[in-house]
Amino acid sequence: MKGIILAAGAGTRLYPVSMPISKVLLPVYDKPMVYYPLSNLMMGGIRDILVITNEEDDPKFRKLLGDGSQFGVHIDYLIQYVPKGISDAFIIAEKWIGGDDVVLVLGDNIFCGPEMQSLIKSAIEENEGATVFGYYVKDPERFGVVEFDGDMNAISIEEKPKNPKSNYAVVGLYFYDGRACEFAKTLLPSANRNELEITDLNIRYMEEGRLKVKLLGDKVRWFDAGTFDSLLEAGNFIKDVQERTSRNIGCPEEIALSKGFVTKEEVIERISKFKENSYQIYVKEICGIKTSIKNTQS
Ligand code: DAU
Repeated sequence: MKGIILAAGAGTRLYPVSMPISKVLLPVYDKPMVYYPLSNLMMGGIRDILVITNEEDDPKFRKLLGDGSQFGVHIDYLIQYVPKGISDAFIIAEKWIGGDDVVLVLGDNIFCGPEMQSLIKSAIEENEGATVFGYYVKDPERFGVVEFDGDMNAISIEEKPKNPKSNYAVVGLYFYDGRACEFAKTLLPSANRNELEITDLNIRYMEEGRLKVKLLGDKVRWFDAGTFDSLLEAGNFIKDVQERTSRNIGCPEEIALSKGFVTKEEVIERISKFKENSYQIYVKEICGIKTSIKNTQS
């Protein structure tokens, strides 16, 4: 199983903030946004990761994430020159995917909750065709919307419908078998956005009766951090949870350690190069190094 983080796109909804830098590199409390989707892939045990960026931001992602070895994973990069749509990821990445099963996570999707690890693992293990996650929302018309039967098979899926058939938004975390590239190449740009829609790819699987839906329950919070309000809300939520629980959300070093991808010594060596701040202190503490100063923000 391979994993793709889609972090290209124009990001115009966050202008002027995202004018000089990809929104996926903006901070969500104490981490760059991309740490959260990266952590989700790592939670699923995925170590072969592709980051798709636009041309301008490619060097910035490489500077931040490098080859991934600091987290015990392997990261490759490809460029999407024109934002042709989310399904275009499978055309760009066809060679890289090489017919394997693949998870796609949108760079601006943030998931919080202790159940995430088991949900991702079960989606990977059980997927036969495609699997999407549904999340109950009050404003489904802003998202892809899925309707499902009692066996959790999708029976309708629509992109930003005016009259949604359910309240379940399809979140930006998708699981596919090796046919995703083949299907993506047959899609046509949508009438309203002129994009290769991820919903149209999902419809291909649904038509074969192979689109399963899993629900993100009450204990999971999902943010599509692509607007000013949701970006702030996600940051505040993460700060609040981290302060209450003394556990970090979306910390790749911690996931890498728990999965045995890296050793404590390797993490300590790298993190020691950071200036002391609450992130560094947390990572040192999970490596067993007691620090006297807490929550130093300088
Ligand atoms: O967040 C979940 C929603 O994401 C789903 O419910 C929708 O079905 C799905 O279409 C998508 O809707 P959005 O309107 O939020 O998609 P957006 O255009 O904002 O793109 C989502 C991310 O994908 C964003 O981080 C930019 C990236 N992207 C998007 C496009 C169209 C690319 O990297 N390349 C692209 O060509």
